[in-house]
Amino acid sequence: MYRDPVQSLEALLPPAAAGAAMRPLRVGMIGIGTVGAGTFRVLARNQAEIAGRAGRGIRMVVVCARSLARAMGVVGTGVALTNDPMQVATHPDVDVLVEAAGGTGPARDWVLAAIRAGKHVVTANKALLATHGNEIFAAARQHGVAVAYEGAVAVSIPIVKALREGLVANRIEWVAGIINGTTNFILSKMRDEGVGFAEALAQAQALGYAEADPTFDIEGIDAAHKITLLAANAFGMPVRFADAQVEGITALQGLDVACAEQLGYRIKLLGVARRRRDGEAEGVELRVHPALVPAMHLLAQVNGSMNAVMVKGDASGVTMYYGAGAGGEQTASAVIADLVDVARLEGTRPAQRVPHLGFHASAVNEDLAVLPRAAVHTRHYLRVPVHSAQQIEAVAAWLAAQQVPVGQVTLANDKALPPGSGPQVLVLTDTVAQSIVDLAVQALAAHPAVAGPVVALRVEMLAG
Ligand SMILES: NC(=O)c1ccc[n+]([C@@H]2O[C@H](COP(=O)([O-])OP(=O)(O)OC[C@H]3O[C@@H](n4cnc5c(N)ncnc54)[C@H](OP(=O)(O)O)[C@@H]3O)[C@@H](O)[C@H]2O)c1
Repeated sequence: MYRDPVQSLEALLPPAAAGAAMRPLRVGMIGIGTVGAGTFRVLARNQAEIAGRAGRGIRMVVVCARSLARAMGVVGTGVALTNDPMQVATHPDVDVLVEAAGGTGPARDWVLAAIRAGKHVVTANKALLATHGNEIFAAARQHGVAVAYEGAVAVSIPIVKALREGLVANRIEWVAGIINGTTNFILSKMRDEGVGFAEALAQAQALGYAEADPTFDIEGIDAAHKITLLAANAFGMPVRFADAQVEGITALQGLDVACAEQLGYRIKLLGVARRRRDGEAEGVELRVHPALVPAMHLLAQVNGSMNAVMVKGDASGVTMYYGAGAGGEQTASAVIADLVDVARLEGTRPAQRVPHLGFHASAVNEDLAVLPRAAVHTRHYLRVPVHSAQQIEAVAAWLAAQQVPVGQVTLANDKALPPGSGPQVLVLTDTVAQSIVDLAVQALAAHPAVAGPVVALRVEMLAG
């Protein structure tokens, strides 16, 4: 049952806090699905704590939904309902728009309309900000409003706040993490139950961990949206989603999950943003791909639909953040944190506020570019099917001759192999440029010892 947070506010706040200056923050919300309904529920349930922290009430005044009957089932009768998103975006009684509908086309128009009408915006829509963020943040600067998006990255984990506020003293060296719950659930199933990708995906869909159309998740696009936003905050660069290198997990074989295990690693879909200032490259590695992580590494222990992000700062060292990777109330936790930030900032000058991307616009390095795939430096795992186990030496020698720094070479255990498959040489390399590995893998296909397609995956140590 919805109770107006504002009605009880006078009793909650100290006398000095009540009064005209403390009028409630008025919210208009577009979309009342998983995130929208979660936000409404948590706002109503925790109104006392939220108002006490914000110093004023947060009142939902209008909600836009396609089905008004369904929306009324969630919000009751105390909130105005409409079918017209633009009406919410430009509503005269709304201070802040919560965009909780998703998508990139219409959502861009609603958000820009709200900004031009002088409204702050809160959204958990990473696709929107990764695609149109530069335009949206520029418009927000021009109109002196906030665009807050904690819920867009790693749901309830306050990673945007950590980067923009808690870690401001640091030169960030890298940010990396498991930032898509669906793929982490699938990879955990593949490892724990020895099932293939297709079966693990079907289980994820049956249990509601994957959408009917899981493309954004399994192709790594959702994780790329998120790591792009984190990179902008970490390094003071524009949002450069179009330049990110993105590989999903659809081609990942159960055999490689088992072989990684044999070598003491687990495979995770990682988003990685790494600032490079070495002699070979000046820029940012921005990539999403499956990677081997040492089995003892904290990230390897992040299972099921959970998320975790690690940040390496030059002063802080490595810090790690862990939490749910999906969920209505989990995302609401972040959305409402953003609303409280907005409630607190009204009356401040825009220049005094936390900048949208962590750095003030004048300090954003427009020239800081994403490095091309060829320039990325990591260790690698190679699995090379061979005609005979004796050819292990020949494969290692051939790779070394191609400038691939071979670290460890071994044969896959027979018990890891599906029936009927031939011997497999497993190679772990030292750090090497992707260009060298790509050329070697391509050329290796023609080697007489090689009996099938060579698999190459990156290895991330993510150490301090
Ligand atoms: N779910 C999560 O765990 C999660 C976590 C982090 C971020 N997010 C992000 O949060 C956003 C919302 O996700 P969600 O999971 O809440 O999606 P959802 O459950 O599908 O809810 C979206 C709601 O928006 C409504 N909607 C869409 N277009 C509309 C329009 N033109 N007019 C009125 N209503 C409209 C939909 O109505 P219909 O039902 O009628 O289509 C639906 O109720 C997305 O950007 C998503 O990426 C979600």
